Amino acid sequence: MSRTIQRRKFIRQTAAASAAIALSNIRAFASSKVNQVKVGIIGVGLRGQSHLDLLLRRDDVVVTAFADPDQNMLASALKMVKDAGKPQPAVFSNGNEDYLNLVKRDDVDAVVIATPWEWHIPQAIAAIKAGKIPGVEVCGAIKLQDCWDVVNASEAANIPVMILENVCYRRDILAVYNMVRKVIPDLQVMIRSSFSLTFNMPTNFPVFSVTLMVLTPLPPRLVIL
Ligand SMILES: NC(=O)c1ccc[n+]([C@@H]2O[C@H](COP(=O)([O-])OP(=O)(O)OC[C@H]3O[C@@H](n4cnc5c(N)ncnc54)[C@H](O)[C@@H]3O)[C@@H](O)[C@H]2O)c1
Repeated sequence: MSRTIQRRKFIRQTAAASAAIALSNIRAFASSKVNQVKVGIIGVGLRGQSHLDLLLRRDDVVVTAFADPDQNMLASALKMVKDAGKPQPAVFSNGNEDYLNLVKRDDVDAVVIATPWEWHIPQAIAAIKAGKIPGVEVCGAIKLQDCWDVVNASEAANIPVMILENVCYRRDILAVYNMVRKVIPDLQVMIRSSFSLTFNMPTNFPVFSVTLMVLTPLPPRLVIL
């Protein structure tokens, strides 16, 4: 058997095993069906408020708590809740570690983490250890060890982690992905992306550069920049 076929077989088998494990975890959570999910938000800056806007539109979600040391961002987020006619969340604004009190609360099932990058992993792990499901903004992990720390914590507590990456689901990215799959079916596709924030731009708008590289048994034969 060639090395390529072994690799493909390995990927198929591990993908099937991962899907089975993921499904069993999802079923375990689905069995305790609730009518409303109680969500806490750690970091109610610009991205946190964007999540808040979506959460406030839902009848099956109640936003129960905020953690953020920035009083201006908190005031803006609390106004959004008030304008939506929803109950005011509990607030944890006593410094950078006050999110630890948010994750302890009984009225929090899940947390959205929309803080600066260096906080994502400690906050996700604190949420998992408190039995809460974290949704973590990009980048999530900075070091390889961060990835293992989250995987190990998630497996130990049997709590899933949602990475809140959205760019890979954008219509233009998916269109390119589907075109590639149709033209060259049965290929492994690796998406390499870089995400950089240019703070010197007037709008602070994130600049994306996405590289799609199609991996074949041969050296890469299609690169889209
Ligand atoms: N997925 C996307 O498309 C997308 C878009 C924009 C930003 N983001 C990500 O969202 C995150 C937040 O970005 P932003 O633009 O909202 O930044 P921001 O500076 O507007 O907001 C970050 C907030 O986190 C708060 N914070 C900092 N340390 C904290 C702590 N220890 N505990 C609680 N709160 C804390 C800050 O006070 C601030 O209000 C970043 O990780 C960024 O990469 C993702």
